[in-house]
Amino acid sequence: MEALVIRSARLEDSPALAMLSTQLGYPTTAEVVQTRLPRYLEAKERRVIVAELDGQVVGWTSIEIVDHFYLEKFAEISGFVVEATHRGRGIGHALMAEAERWTSAQGLSILRLKTNVVRTDAHRFYENLGFLRTKTQYTYVKQLAQDGKAQ
Ligand SMILES: CC(C)(COP(=O)(O)OP(=O)(O)OC[C@H]1O[C@@H](n2cnc3c(N)ncnc32)[C@H](O)[C@@H]1OP(=O)(O)O)[C@@H](O)C(=O)NCCC(=O)NCCS
Repeated sequence: MEALVIRSARLEDSPALAMLSTQLGYPTTAEVVQTRLPRYLEAKERRVIVAELDGQVVGWTSIEIVDHFYLEKFAEISGFVVEATHRGRGIGHALMAEAERWTSAQGLSILRLKTNVVRTDAHRFYENLGFLRTKTQYTYVKQLAQDGKAQ
């Protein structure tokens, strides 16, 4: 394989992060990512990790520490994507290895993630990496008016 570098995201990665987010099913632009990314770059409790292949960002994962009063503190993967033409070559494994290393470095031993039921390829990927499916959930969302009241 060509030179693969796993590193923290930088602001100048915004165009690639936006393109890959769009591929993941969350369409966005470089400008929007550029406004949202700094809170990851400055924080200790969350991180965006990128895979750079020959100088080109071809994958990313985002991970954050979640600290509910009723659960043991854990890390959660909130997004994971490898560029379509680069899949199946170990890039996802390399990103996950860094996510696991980061989790351990935070003193945590639990790593969680949620994945859409339709992403069957991703399920295989996670299960091959030792993740256990623990439950199936529905996701609800309610669009509120700007003043916080329901529309
Ligand atoms: C899931 C994903 C991140 C894995 O990254 P990857 O770089 O392809 O993974 P690797 O090459 O390290 O590992 C390959 C394994 O991933 C799985 N896999 C998932 N999608 C694959 C694809 N399109 N091509 C090849 N392998 C794929 C297979 O289980 C494969 O294992 P195998 O070689 O034993 O069949 C990537 O395929 C992807 O971005 N998929 C679309 C977006 C997505 O579903 N993201 C997860 C959101 S929860």
